[in-house]
Amino acid sequence: MKLRIDKICSDYNLASRKEIRDYVKKGRIRVDGEVLKSSSDKVDPLTSVITVDGVKLEYEEYSYFMLNKPDGVLSTAFDKKQRTVLNLLSKPHRSDLFPVGRLDKDTTGLLLISNDGPLSHELLSPKKHVDKVYEARVKGRIRPELKEVFARGFQYDEDLVSDSATLEILSYDEIQDQTLIHVTIHEGKFHQIKKMFLAVGSEVLSLKRVSFGPLKLDESLKEGEYRCLTQEEINLLKEGHENA
Ligand code: URA
Repeated sequence: MKLRIDKICSDYNLASRKEIRDYVKKGRIRVDGEVLKSSSDKVDPLTSVITVDGVKLEYEEYSYFMLNKPDGVLSTAFDKKQRTVLNLLSKPHRSDLFPVGRLDKDTTGLLLISNDGPLSHELLSPKKHVDKVYEARVKGRIRPELKEVFARGFQYDEDLVSDSATLEILSYDEIQDQTLIHVTIHEGKFHQIKKMFLAVGSEVLSLKRVSFGPLKLDESLKEGEYRCLTQEEINLLKEGHENA
C-alpha cells in the first residue's frame, strides 16, 4: 500500500512532518536510490527501499512488543504529567504505538504494546474470552473453598458480577500472613481483581500479570524492559483470536 513519505517517517518518530519537508529539501531521503522530490510523494514502504542519510528504514505495517511493566507507570499512550509505558521505549520508535489494554499504575508484568488496532480490538473484546493470568500476594490465608466461589462467579461490586475465574493457591506465608495465588480471568474490568478480593474480605498487596492469552511473560525481562514478540508469538496471538 502506498503511503505518504512524511507519514511513514513520522510514524517512526524520525522527525516531525515539518522537519521531514526540510530533509526532503536537503535531499536526505532517497527511495530506491532516487532522491525524493516531495514529502507528499507516496511510496509503498513494503516494496521500496527508503533511506534517510543512507540508513535504511525497516518498515513493518505492525509492530508488537512485550513489556514487563514496572510499578508507578501509567498504561496509557500519553500523559501530560506522569510517565507512561510508551516513555519506557527507547527512541526512535514509531509514533502510532499504544498499550493493548490497561494495567493499574501499581500493577506490574506483561503488557503488549502494538499499533495493530484490529488485533487489539479482538484481544480486548469481552466476547473473545482471552485469559489473563495474574500472580497476586493477598492479605490473610486464602481458604481452598474460595476456588469454588471464583469458579462460579460472584457479585464483587455494587452492580458487577464476575464470570467464572480460576483461583490457584500457590503458598501461604505464616509470618507475613499473606497468600500467593494465581488468578485467571478473561474479563478486564476496572480494578477487577482488587475488587474481587476486597469483596471476599481480603486485599491485594501486589499484582503482576504473568500471561495474556497465549503470551507468557518473558522472565528474562526485568521490570521496565521490553522486547519484540517473536514471529511464533505473533502467530499464536493471531490464531488464538481467529479460533475464539
Ligand atoms: N485487576 C486489577 O485489579 N488491576 C489490574 O491492573 C488488572 C486486573
